[in-house]
Amino acid sequence: MEKEICRLLHTSLVGRNLICLDEVDSTNTYAKKLALDGAPDGTVVIADCQTAGRGRRERLFQSPRGSGLYLTALLRPGLPAERLIPATAMAGVAVCAAVEQTCGIRPGLKWPNDPVLGRRKLGGILTELTGDLALVIGIGINLSPAALSPDVAAIATCLERELGQAVSRPVLAAALIEELERLSDALRAGALEPYRAAFRRDCVNLGNPVQILSGDTRETVQALDIDEMFGLIIRDAQGQLRTVRSGEVSVRGLYGYVE
Ligand code: BTN
Repeated sequence: MEKEICRLLHTSLVGRNLICLDEVDSTNTYAKKLALDGAPDGTVVIADCQTAGRGRRERLFQSPRGSGLYLTALLRPGLPAERLIPATAMAGVAVCAAVEQTCGIRPGLKWPNDPVLGRRKLGGILTELTGDLALVIGIGINLSPAALSPDVAAIATCLERELGQAVSRPVLAAALIEELERLSDALRAGALEPYRAAFRRDCVNLGNPVQILSGDTRETVQALDIDEMFGLIIRDAQGQLRTVRSGEVSVRGLYGYVE
């Protein structure tokens, strides 16, 4: 796996230090430990399976052996925290671009950054920050059918199911690493406009009603646009415009996961 990916890589930073593991609790947790030990900017960790894969909002990310790409990139852009906020949404665009290049089909994004195909969740992204503002971008992409718990299986899909054929994990991993290098360059340069434009095109919620879930409350609103910092601009039931931020709320369709 490591050799195959290296052969396909043209990056100068991201993936130059590439660590491929058979099994790990979570590639994000592992990368955060490496960061503490001084691992270099651009380090990438990939695992065949995760025993305690982590999702957003303290959820578990089921990561069975051989059926997904579980990858974390460690970036040290040396930027203040507020300039790192867009990385979460930009990682969604990076996944869409890598899947499109590899598979010829571009996923959509359920705000804030869940890749979706056929109205189902194709994977997930968990972005974290370390104490010294290193960026840990964890990406899981479902490749082939797997035994998932019924609640996850009900909303999940995988590339093999959507394409009708298997996808090469090293090829997708290399494409994703290339996209993460592009992200890293854009973030450092503050060149976010192409990512905003792509995000607006990819976001499946815009123009549609969504439910905003926050704690125990559930509110039906209209999703209108994406703001400068990739927040979701909505119109609420009283006709007021508001922006919701990732981390504060979660978004669902009216009847299902997307719509
Ligand atoms: C979500 O859907 O809530 C986000 C899931 C993120 C999963 C990826 S898999 C690689 C990396 N390691 C983790 O423990 N989580 C992320």
